[in-house]
Amino acid sequence: MRKVGVVGWPVTQSRSPVIFGHWFERYGVEGRYELIPVRPEDADDFFQNLPAEWTGVNVTIPHKEAAARHVQCHGPALTLGVANTLWRQGGAVHGTSSDGHGFVASLKADAPAWDPSMLNLVVGAGGASAAIVAALKSFGEVMVVNRTTSRAEALAEKIGGVQWASWDALGDVLGKAGLLVNATSLGMTGTAPLELDVSRLPKNAVVADIVYNPLETPLLAAARAQNLFTVDGLGMLLHQATVGFERWFGIAPDVDAELRAKVVATL
Ligand code: ATR
Repeated sequence: MRKVGVVGWPVTQSRSPVIFGHWFERYGVEGRYELIPVRPEDADDFFQNLPAEWTGVNVTIPHKEAAARHVQCHGPALTLGVANTLWRQGGAVHGTSSDGHGFVASLKADAPAWDPSMLNLVVGAGGASAAIVAALKSFGEVMVVNRTTSRAEALAEKIGGVQWASWDALGDVLGKAGLLVNATSLGMTGTAPLELDVSRLPKNAVVADIVYNPLETPLLAAARAQNLFTVDGLGMLLHQATVGFERWFGIAPDVDAELRAKVVATL
């Protein structure tokens, strides 16, 4: 029985046990996925000596930076300085960040109409935004816009080759965007919506949200009312998890309707 899990503080809210439980059943893998609560003051120790019982782990808030400090980082983990998927290889612990991959995989699966040669506009400048911006960069032109403009500028500079604009300019750049991503927490149950005039977007634009609670945010509802393509935040969550499963168990798992339904039932 190989044990994997998610390290965080707190971790009780994680949907990963449901996701991995589905794949264990589906692929007949003898595995267990556990919640691994680690206090912030213990995080460095934990990642420095990842206990042998764990084949690999996912890492969530607030430990993604601590994980990156103590493992051999690959791909986006190097640029972003965060790691959310750790595995063992050649006697060492390695890590990457799978959020950007998860976002793009979800976009490709759920919005085949996405035209990456148009402007890819990302709203927000936190950790989720950084992962998405870094992943989108290899597909085309990317612009980041954030309420606090200095954070948009800092993010664009950190990743490189990315444009930024002020919050006030957001309405004007919508007309060029083939993809609009809400990478802020706005629209989540209990918060204000991200209020944008989506009718200014081109007719073939895709609107994606990282929020998955509710599945249809006010932004996505407005986009749908304009007959725009929409992608909800659940796809990113499901697709980012495939990276760990493949690393640990050697199978690239499917994100299918049954998995989606199981996770939706927990929302
Ligand atoms: P995470 O790392 O999860 O992405 P974060 O660093 O807290 O989280 O970032 C949250 C994002 O939502 C930020 O881009 C934040 O904008 P600021 O940098 O200006 O704070 C954005 N955000 C949160 N509340 C907002 C609001 N009321 N209006 C506009 N943007 C908001």
